[in-house]
Amino acid sequence: MIRLGVLGVGDLTEKMIRGLHRSGSDTTFLLSPRSRARAESLAQDIGCELMRDNQAVADAADVILVGVRPAQLGELAQEIVLKPGVPLISVVSGVPVSDLQRMFGAREYTRAMLSLASEINRSTVAVYPASSAAAQLLAVLGNPVLLATEREFELATVGACMNGWFYFLLHDLQQWFVQKGFAPDDARQLVLSSVEDCVAYARYKSPSGMGEIGSSIATPGTYTAQGLDVLDKLGGNAAWKAACEHVFDQLNAKNV
Ligand SMILES: NC(=O)c1ccc[n+]([C@@H]2O[C@H](COP(=O)([O-])OP(=O)(O)OC[C@H]3O[C@@H](n4cnc5c(N)ncnc54)[C@H](OP(=O)(O)O)[C@@H]3O)[C@@H](O)[C@H]2O)c1
Repeated sequence: MIRLGVLGVGDLTEKMIRGLHRSGSDTTFLLSPRSRARAESLAQDIGCELMRDNQAVADAADVILVGVRPAQLGELAQEIVLKPGVPLISVVSGVPVSDLQRMFGAREYTRAMLSLASEINRSTVAVYPASSAAAQLLAVLGNPVLLATEREFELATVGACMNGWFYFLLHDLQQWFVQKGFAPDDARQLVLSSVEDCVAYARYKSPSGMGEIGSSIATPGTYTAQGLDVLDKLGGNAAWKAACEHVFDQLNAKNV
């Protein structure tokens, strides 16, 4: 039984806790009381322990999970003293291990990047370093991607941003159908099914490149090729690359 102390019971860590519980993982959750309503609902739903304060979490936990926003990390570090040797897992984007060490002292650190699909054990679970013992605990939340360098971890963080951007793309595509007269549920179904179909086939055809599959569909003169030309002319794909570069630059600036 692992006693996982959660400092920062927010949107992401709530989903992680629910996913860990759902997987049958042998974990007890000790929650910071700061986000009281969320922590109380978790305590009620899955029997987490709501602790008196952050220090009580730090004192009782075998492993600490930190899920505050980057700008809130300094304040949290000032507030608590962690027991020597207790490992810390951080899901805080853009904060390298060197900064965590400066704030929380020498101990084993794991950086993890997940998505809200942790709740249903279908998240990408990017973990640095690859040798981290925490990787085993987190693996039940979805598809583990173990990363040997912090640079690779920042690349995986760009992947986590893509995950967020996909929702906006899917929303816009759904809305286009709705504006053309489709019922919202039908439009939703059509868009989601189309993406699922694409992901499933790309996995089935692995290791074929995804561009290769696309090219076999968008042959000259097809409607798919015509639409692709419009996307190219308007810089559709280039805009996605630019967004990736922007985020990666920001993340790397933190690592120098
Ligand atoms: N959401 C995602 O999809 C996602 C994906 C990947 C990574 N992340 C990373 O996960 C972290 C959390 O994101 P989020 O979206 O879950 O944010 P969030 O919902 O705002 O969660 C952060 C929580 O931490 C609490 N908190 C702040 N300072 C605290 C302290 N000193 N002690 C105890 N609790 C404290 C906040 O309470 P208050 O509201 O009172 O400030 C809030 O409930 C971020 O660093 C983000 O980079 C998130």
